[in-house]
Amino acid sequence: MHCFIIVALTADGFIGRDVAHNSTRWTSKEDAAWFNQRSKQAGAVVMGRATYDTINKPLPDRVTIVYSRDADEARLVKNQSKLEKNQIYYTQAKPKDLLNKLDELGFNEVAICGGSSIYTMFMQAGVTDKLYLTVEPVLFGDGIKLFNKKLNIKLKLKSVKQLSSQTILLEYIVD
Ligand SMILES: NC(=O)c1ccc[n+]([C@@H]2O[C@H](COP(=O)([O-])OP(=O)(O)OC[C@H]3O[C@@H](n4cnc5c(N)ncnc54)[C@H](OP(=O)(O)O)[C@@H]3O)[C@@H](O)[C@H]2O)c1
Repeated sequence: MHCFIIVALTADGFIGRDVAHNSTRWTSKEDAAWFNQRSKQAGAVVMGRATYDTINKPLPDRVTIVYSRDADEARLVKNQSKLEKNQIYYTQAKPKDLLNKLDELGFNEVAICGGSSIYTMFMQAGVTDKLYLTVEPVLFGDGIKLFNKKLNIKLKLKSVKQLSSQTILLEYIVD
């Protein structure tokens, strides 16, 4: 099972101004196209409830899995025998347990789509094998960081792609 983080960053390293800030308000159309293409390829996206609240609908053509401690038992991933696209499911599982369950359900890859608490949890759990960072030409000065706890992780830069004249996509392998 492959698990990658996919995120857009300001040039000063933030992922949002505050918890309610919808990323599509400041990221480029090229990043949106990249995000849609890569996350559809994975088939399943995982996000925290705060990030989900900024979107408020399941992502089309993908299975959307939301971390929340306040979830309907019947919609928990652990209670499913099949996950349908265009639907929302919930989880409270440890990253490794969620990935094992998704593997059992036939997924090969999952896209970790934020926010900070979910990116941090998956990175700390040691289950993430790749990071896709889109750098946008914007500065917030202050805001929500990509990770919110101490980490000591080495990365290998695999590729650098220009999504447009303004936007760069960095692909890192987690060492
Ligand atoms: N730039 C980007 O690419 C990008 C991508 C994604 C998000 N963002 C930004 O990130 C910000 C939100 O990040 P955030 O860290 O504040 O919030 P978040 O990670 O999106 O969501 C936090 C919520 O997730 C749930 N949660 C977290 N850990 C859990 C666990 N172990 N078990 C069960 N539920 C758990 C809790 O929901 P309950 O309160 O319901 O229990 C918690 O309140 C927003 O500004 C958003 O725009 C940016």
